[in-house]
Amino acid sequence: MKILVTGGLGFIGSHTVVELQNEGFEVVIIDDCSNSSEEVLKGITAISGKTPIFEKIDLKEKESVSDFFKRHDDIQGVIHFAASKAVGESVEKPLLYYENNIATLVYLLKELSNKDNSNFIFSSSCTVYGQADKMPITEDAPVKPAESPYGNTKQIGEEIIRETCKVTDGLNAIALRYFNPMGAHPSAEIGELPIGVPQNLVPFITQTGVGLRQELSVFGDDYPTSDGTCVRDYIYVVDLAKAHVQALQRLLERKNSENYEVFNLGTGKGSSVLEVIHSFENVSGEKLNYKIVDRRAGDITEAYADTTKANEVLGWKAQYSLDEAMKSAWDWEQKIRSQS
Ligand code: UD1
Repeated sequence: MKILVTGGLGFIGSHTVVELQNEGFEVVIIDDCSNSSEEVLKGITAISGKTPIFEKIDLKEKESVSDFFKRHDDIQGVIHFAASKAVGESVEKPLLYYENNIATLVYLLKELSNKDNSNFIFSSSCTVYGQADKMPITEDAPVKPAESPYGNTKQIGEEIIRETCKVTDGLNAIALRYFNPMGAHPSAEIGELPIGVPQNLVPFITQTGVGLRQELSVFGDDYPTSDGTCVRDYIYVVDLAKAHVQALQRLLERKNSENYEVFNLGTGKGSSVLEVIHSFENVSGEKLNYKIVDRRAGDITEAYADTTKANEVLGWKAQYSLDEAMKSAWDWEQKIRSQS
């Protein structure tokens, strides 16, 4: 069964391609390589023993998307990762984000709406909840006004899919709201490759660990949490990848109860920034150089998932601990730095 993975050379995309191939799916990747590299194909092949079909296509080119679906009229499902994801950049270049994340989604859905039957999985984010009023966060928690154009593209993206599903009989879709993805494949063949200075906590920690950054700044220790630092739900990327396969299977087997569904993907456990640092120190045996600085604008105090719906309805549960995920991130960081 042939599955299209857009952004399949990216961080979560590449791990999902591996899991799909392990389950026997034939994978076609579309990626424009704007934030990824064809080299990732080698890592995917080394792990799964299979090389996915790869087409370098920019999804903003509507004709190329149409042409792709004409040439691959046997695609049974689409997992759509391709998107821009830097929050700060989105504030500076909102139109870039609306074009990259929204226009491309519209073109894809137009193609799928022309088919009798199509199955669509969308990368969404816990960012849609903003600072939720209640922890853990359930899927019916209200969507809060977005803090950035990036966050807005996830909210608008969900709405576009929901409204399209309402009027398109053969279209079935699931939006997956990720909490904080982290880690790398245990083989260290694929992992996260942030360009420039990482904005996210875990790659900043591992880069500090290998000496690429001098010191981690911890953004605030005066939050109303157990140790004063912000709390997030860090989810291992391999667990996350497996959830995509399960969501796709749910659609392919027509087990979905509505033609548009939403699931939280997290561990259900909140960890503070200091706990994440301690996890790093625990698995690496190294002391991390860090200092407490002012809060970062736009940060929320805490966010962790209620995973009951994913556990019971999707039949998916995170299997790996924070330490295991951190160990994989550390192994990957050491491997890529030893090569460069
Ligand atoms: C960020 C984005 C969010 C996006 C998610 C993707 C912001 C405001 N939010 O979420 O929209 O969906 O990434 O993974 O950018 N921290 C430090 N020092 C650092 C980096 C981070 O103390 O150098 C802290 C942050 O204050 C936060 C935690 O670590 O409490 C996690 O930060 P980060 O990895 O950037 O993720 P989020 O802010 O949760």
